[in-house]
Amino acid sequence: MERIAILGAQWGDEGKGKVVDFLAADMDVVARYSGGPNAGHTVIINGKKYILHLIPSGILHRNTMCVMGNGMVVDPAALIEEMKELQEAGVYIGENLIISESAHVIMPYHKKLDALNERIRGKRQIGTTLRGIGPAYADKASRIGIRMGELLDPEILKEKLAFNLKIKNAIIEHFFGEEGYSFDDLYSQALEWAEKLKGFVDNTVSYMKRALKDGKSILYEGAQGTMLDIDHGTYPYVTSSNPTIGGIMTGLGVPKDSVERIVGVVKAYTTRVGGGPFPTEETGNLGDLLREKGGEYGATTGRPRRCGWLDLVGLKFATWVNGLTHIAITKLDVLDGFEKIKVCIAYEIDGEITEEFPTDYVKFCKARPIYKELPGWKTPVKGKNKREELPKEALSYVEFIAEQLGVDIMLVSTGADRKDTVMFI
Ligand code: IMP
Repeated sequence: MERIAILGAQWGDEGKGKVVDFLAADMDVVARYSGGPNAGHTVIINGKKYILHLIPSGILHRNTMCVMGNGMVVDPAALIEEMKELQEAGVYIGENLIISESAHVIMPYHKKLDALNERIRGKRQIGTTLRGIGPAYADKASRIGIRMGELLDPEILKEKLAFNLKIKNAIIEHFFGEEGYSFDDLYSQALEWAEKLKGFVDNTVSYMKRALKDGKSILYEGAQGTMLDIDHGTYPYVTSSNPTIGGIMTGLGVPKDSVERIVGVVKAYTTRVGGGPFPTEETGNLGDLLREKGGEYGATTGRPRRCGWLDLVGLKFATWVNGLTHIAITKLDVLDGFEKIKVCIAYEIDGEITEEFPTDYVKFCKARPIYKELPGWKTPVKGKNKREELPKEALSYVEFIAEQLGVDIMLVSTGADRKDTVMFI
């Protein structure tokens, strides 16, 4: 039985939602292990668009079990809204969704603090999604966070919420000079959320153990990307969790052998949203062209994404850190019509050429890309779903990437719809 991880190999927005959806049809379980509603996984089926923020993309397949792991941070209000929207679109949500009782709750004060923290950072703003991710993970690390299981226990919730509000209101009111939160309002709101979500909250570690012992096929769905990882990304311009491979073990409570194939999702070029260094960024017409052709606007925030050429230095780093066995290349069709395609093969830092991804932020900021030019293709790849239909230059481009990374290609995506996919294995 297949156990496969789908991870972002760049700065998120690689098109993981589509890849997960495509593969989920054959899976018993799809499990998410990190992040929260900062993610925006877009899936288009027969022209109908679904954007998933918290719920694993497997939910669109009726017989797939979806797990939200302990490594996630869950905004109950956002989750209830997402469930409602999906149900109105005819998607079944019932016993096919299970949420870890150890996942942390994003409270309204986390979202407020996210925005206030950004405000005081001034020109060093991270450009977060403002979904409360950083403050919720900070509370988890400070051991004052409220977990989903605790949300369901009125007495524990009362005590923990009162304690948290003392701290949060002091910061919000006295440091930021803004209005704090009323305990009564927040408590009664939280009890309402608990009532709506209680049927879904359970011990997901036990569930995953049973699923693995029963030989179920499992897809581990990554959110964000390697370069946004709190440990391995371009800190401090990162998210607050581990989207990389280790996040699966800690974020779901499964042993290392529970993953067999590790697929890095690679957009055929690079994008980044929010602040932080981006060596291959194109800020002129080319960047605009990629943005318009690729529809590069955030699925969660609608913000325009920064665009540039593919960066093999970063991808080699992602291949190593995650132990990638395969890649899934997405949005190849966006490169249709380019005469030449550039790929960054090394960096120049302080006059030295290197193929090593710098883990030091200051060094990374100085990295200048060294490019290799590859020929573009005349026949569009858009909508193609057979390998032999791809023009030879397009095939050479994806093969060059795989060869440089020393991995196999699992699939290439040639359009937004489920059917616009070329399988390579
Ligand atoms: P946060 O996760 O909202 O704290 O945002 C931290 C950084 O990660 C910001 O640069 C965000 O734009 C970026 N980010 C967070 N989630 C995603 C995602 O799903 N796709 C792309 N970028 C993301």
